[in-house]
Amino acid sequence: MSSIRLQLLEAARKARLNACAPFSHFQVGAALLSADGRTFTGCNIENCSYGLTVCAERVALFKALSEGARQFTHIAVVADTGDPTPPCGACRQMLWEYGGDLELILGNLEAEKAVYRLKTLFPLPFEARLFT
Ligand code: THU
Repeated sequence: MSSIRLQLLEAARKARLNACAPFSHFQVGAALLSADGRTFTGCNIENCSYGLTVCAERVALFKALSEGARQFTHIAVVADTGDPTPPCGACRQMLWEYGGDLELILGNLEAEKAVYRLKTLFPLPFEARLFT
C-alpha cells in the first residue's frame, strides 16, 4: 500500500479520537491532502438539533479551504466498522465541488478497506458550470 494512503489513514484515525458524537456514538475521522502537500484533518461534530451536525469530511474540507488550500488529491475516511464508511451525499457534493475526482481511501481502525475515485461514487454531479 502506498505510504500516502497509510499516512492519511493514520491521520484520520487520530482525528477520529476528537469526534463530538454524543448522539450517534459513531465516531468518524477524515484526512484531506492538498496538492501542495498539506494534510487537513476533521472529525464529525454533532449537535442536539441533529441537523446541524457536520461530518468529518466537511470539517476537514472547511479547515483546508479556510487555510487557503484550493486543490486536493486524496481524502481518507476512517470509522470503527467492518465495512468501509463512504461519505454521505452532502459530503460527496462538497468534495466534488472543491476537490474534483479525488482518490478516496476508506479504512477502519486496523486497515485500508477500499479505494475509490470520487467520480465513481458521484457519477452525475450538480455543478456550477450548469448555470454560470
Ligand atoms: N458521519 C461522518 O462524519 N462521515 C460520514 O462519512 C458518515 C457519517 C457522521 C455524521 C454523524 O455524526 C454520524 O456519523 C452518524 O451519522
